Amino acid sequence: MTLRIISLSSPLFLIPICGESSAKMRSLQFAIQHLMVSAKKAESAPDFDFVDHHTFQMFDPPYPPWDPTDTKSFSYDTLIRRWPVILTSIIDNLYRMGHDLATQPHELSPIVAEERIAAAKGIIEKISKLKYEMGREKPLLVSGRPLADDGEPSIGLYNQELAALEAQGKGTWFTAPWLFAECYLYRLVRSYFIESKALENYDPFVSQKIDTFQKSGNGVYQLASTMHEIEVEKGNLISDPTKLSVLFKEMIQMCLWGNATDLSLLTHMTVEDIGRLQSVGREAQESRKQFILHDDQEAVWSHVQTLKDARVDIVLDNSGFELFTDLVLADFLVTYTPYFSKAVFHPKLIPWFVSDVTPPDFLATFSSLLDPSFFGSVPSEEAKEHLKAMATRWSNYITDGTFRLSVPTDTPLGGKGGVGRSAEFWTTPYPYWDMQERDQELWKDLRNSSLVIFKGDLNYRKLTGDIRWPASTPFERAIGPLAGSFPILSLRTNKADVVVGVDQGVADELDEADNRKWRYDGRYALISFVPKTFSRPLHMDEMSYEV
Ligand code: F6P
Ligand code: MG
Repeated sequence: MTLRIISLSSPLFLIPICGESSAKMRSLQFAIQHLMVSAKKAESAPDFDFVDHHTFQMFDPPYPPWDPTDTKSFSYDTLIRRWPVILTSIIDNLYRMGHDLATQPHELSPIVAEERIAAAKGIIEKISKLKYEMGREKPLLVSGRPLADDGEPSIGLYNQELAALEAQGKGTWFTAPWLFAECYLYRLVRSYFIESKALENYDPFVSQKIDTFQKSGNGVYQLASTMHEIEVEKGNLISDPTKLSVLFKEMIQMCLWGNATDLSLLTHMTVEDIGRLQSVGREAQESRKQFILHDDQEAVWSHVQTLKDARVDIVLDNSGFELFTDLVLADFLVTYTPYFSKAVFHPKLIPWFVSDVTPPDFLATFSSLLDPSFFGSVPSEEAKEHLKAMATRWSNYITDGTFRLSVPTDTPLGGKGGVGRSAEFWTTPYPYWDMQERDQELWKDLRNSSLVIFKGDLNYRKLTGDIRWPASTPFERAIGPLAGSFPILSLRTNKADVVVGVDQGVADELDEADNRKWRYDGRYALISFVPKTFSRPLHMDEMSYEV
């Protein structure tokens, strides 16, 4: 007889006991897991011995996290300079919205308009207070209060972590781990919008996202024409691995550099700087190759060639031009290679790190691309046709399931009522080390993928835990027990302190010569790959015992 070990991390465990809504159940389940972990870590809870403790053996990193106690770190700069700018941009946005509603013609009823104006005012007050407290070394708990249950995911988790940090004397904006504090910041701001009711579906970053995308016309048309050239060559390509290998690497690099342009960096970059970073031609890529400090393209290519009609997943980062490059890569893989036939895209459920893709952003991208006036001037009639053909193919892919969002495409912000279940993990504060324990459904789903591409800087911080790894640490070590779960490809331009997989001498030299800027100014990049065959200890949940 085979006895399967069932752990508390199974979502089914609590359902028959409490009969609560699934979102609440999950919060409760996470809270219990957290308690177990904290208790176990503190080695003070023999009461919990009945639990299969292997399940809760979370990864224990060997270095401390990046945090603003290091005043030379980018996390310190973010706390004292970038966050205040980002918060002020939300205030400006709300102020403008209220002003427009009060002074411009609009289609809302007077009552609804008044409600929104009042809601905007209330949120502005809260954000102003938050900005004040953040700058004065106050606790993360605004006015000493934990997050109130606003009906959206992860409140319980954040509150558990907040309590744990406070107990460790790390409960202030200046002492908390940067990764946690930054995730919490966006969840806290989201709670203000939910509580306002009238603005719960409002994304304060959406106009920035759209404006910047509208200014990306050059890169967009250029890539659409490149795809057209590939379409002409399709017949020759599909059976020619040598040509496919060249194109595959060009596509990977195009998608990598698409990450250089996120809007949270607009606090120190102009739109023109971003335009330069979006130059996608072959020469531009060639000249940037020297900035890729770790390059596993050969290893990914060797893996990809073993596949046939497989599934690729993209854990998305930013909306606008970066999402466009993700779609181009996915299109290339499913349309012009024999290796893949499906692509799954993973969005964030709430406005996140300014420019991250939400389900409404994802949907809007297709209508923007199909709107001939969206990018203003069109370089040529041909380019216009190329973009139309490509965007039409993508829309059809959405309809026939070749391209799929990991949540229903019409999921509203927040993904209430469990509709965004499969995306909830991405807006928790957790590193990805323990994805298997923290979100078993997601982990199991990704095991069905033949390549999971993690885009961007925040995903990289979460993959590596955002701790002070020596730069020479191998990537597969830095991602802890996630290594070997599924084939992982991280495409990241450097925008935070954490770096691994880089020769220590090179890192030291750059630190010295460049005053550590290479770690976060977006000029350098890393392409890191770990195959599924990477051997890792078997997790308890995967074990069966013969008795
Ligand atoms: O605010 C800091 C940060 O997390 C940086 O690491 C990075 O600059 C940005 O936000 C997000 O970058 P990305 O969009 O590439 O995840
Ligand atoms: Mg981002």
